[in-house]
Amino acid sequence: MSNSRDVLDGLPVGPLPIPCDPEGASPVQWMHMPNGVGVWAVSDYRLARQVLADPRFSRAAAVAPDVPKVASIDPSPDSIVSLDGRAHARLRRIVAGAFTGRRISALGPFIETRASELLDAMAAGGQPADLVAGLAAPLPLSVLCHMLGVPEADRESFREWVPVLFDLDGEGAENRTRAFLITHYMTKLIGSKRREPGGDLISALIQAADEEGKLTNRELVTLSLALLMAGYDSTADQITLAFLSLLHDPARTAALRDDPNLVPAEVEELLRTNPSAPLSFSRAVTEPVQLADVTISPGEPVLVFLMGANRTRDDSGNPAGNPHLTFGRGVHRCLGAPLARLQLATVIRLTLDRFPHLELAEDIDGLDWKPAAATRGLKSLRVHW
Ligand code: HEM
Repeated sequence: MSNSRDVLDGLPVGPLPIPCDPEGASPVQWMHMPNGVGVWAVSDYRLARQVLADPRFSRAAAVAPDVPKVASIDPSPDSIVSLDGRAHARLRRIVAGAFTGRRISALGPFIETRASELLDAMAAGGQPADLVAGLAAPLPLSVLCHMLGVPEADRESFREWVPVLFDLDGEGAENRTRAFLITHYMTKLIGSKRREPGGDLISALIQAADEEGKLTNRELVTLSLALLMAGYDSTADQITLAFLSLLHDPARTAALRDDPNLVPAEVEELLRTNPSAPLSFSRAVTEPVQLADVTISPGEPVLVFLMGANRTRDDSGNPAGNPHLTFGRGVHRCLGAPLARLQLATVIRLTLDRFPHLELAEDIDGLDWKPAAATRGLKSLRVHW
């Protein structure tokens, strides 16, 4: 049974059920997802950490054909986040080798410039403006294109194809064409980076892969598309939800505007309380495993409710006392966390500086939520200044 709540901190949580049980009365419970599939929901902080770090809770077993799929959009079985053990470690080393702190910091100036351009365009377009279409969605896509090395001239077509990654089960010739086009495009791009490497992530992946034992072009295409899938909606939705929380609380916004040094700590609190990734991907066990007072059987999906776990009180009773799990934990912990943090901090700082009187132009009870999927987000968020 679910004890999901519709409202947390005075804000609606959206279409996904979020078991949030700070008192720990039922840390593991059987519940049904919006698509009707039953899952073990783990929403206690300590148990959530255990499931994410315990290799008996396997990602590869969860994508096996006989395990029910908890979401219509699941990463493919050969994606980095669907592999276990050595196969995962090999890919992870390659991506981590290319995703260095230096490479992420070097993106800082690009993020600042692109965010400023988008804010200029928003100001010029008049108010009220849609913060999702104007800022939260285009910024991470530009950053990913820049990072992957998609040439400027191709970015417009790329922008049209990317949504297909989030609707892979979608029917219709148009979707199949877009899926073909983006795969074909990435294959060609990787071929050209092999011949003429640049300073971008794909060239770095090719080089790292060559040092680790070659990746085929197909593996590189899957990896680049996995990065786009992992890094686009999650960041766009997180920027939107961060502004929703901030603008819902004008005193909090004013404090940040007056002292931008508070932004990094505020970003962590926004990630904890209003995460765009409210759940982990599902896990499955290959033999019965005892978790708290239940026995998980093979074939039963297990989901960590990160948003609920983030609200478990620590030993001194403080709900904000534990480091949050919004970027996961263990071998699959988010590789893009530093990049997401950098984008969030930059966009919050620049936006409050540019629009010191930014306010919601929406009734929070009428928010336009995206359908339940891997991330929580809004289709639009109107603001004025
Ligand atoms: C606010 C934005 C983001 C959030 C909330 C987020 C959240 C997460 C979470 C919870 C996981 C672990 C899932 C699990 O174990 O079931 C994960 C994994 C991952 N994330 Fe992120 N992510 C974000 C942004 C990004 C970005 C910008 C990138 C890269 C461009 C990225 C790349 C990845 C990759 C590659 C993995 C899989 C790692 C592995 O399996 O070893 N993420 N993310």
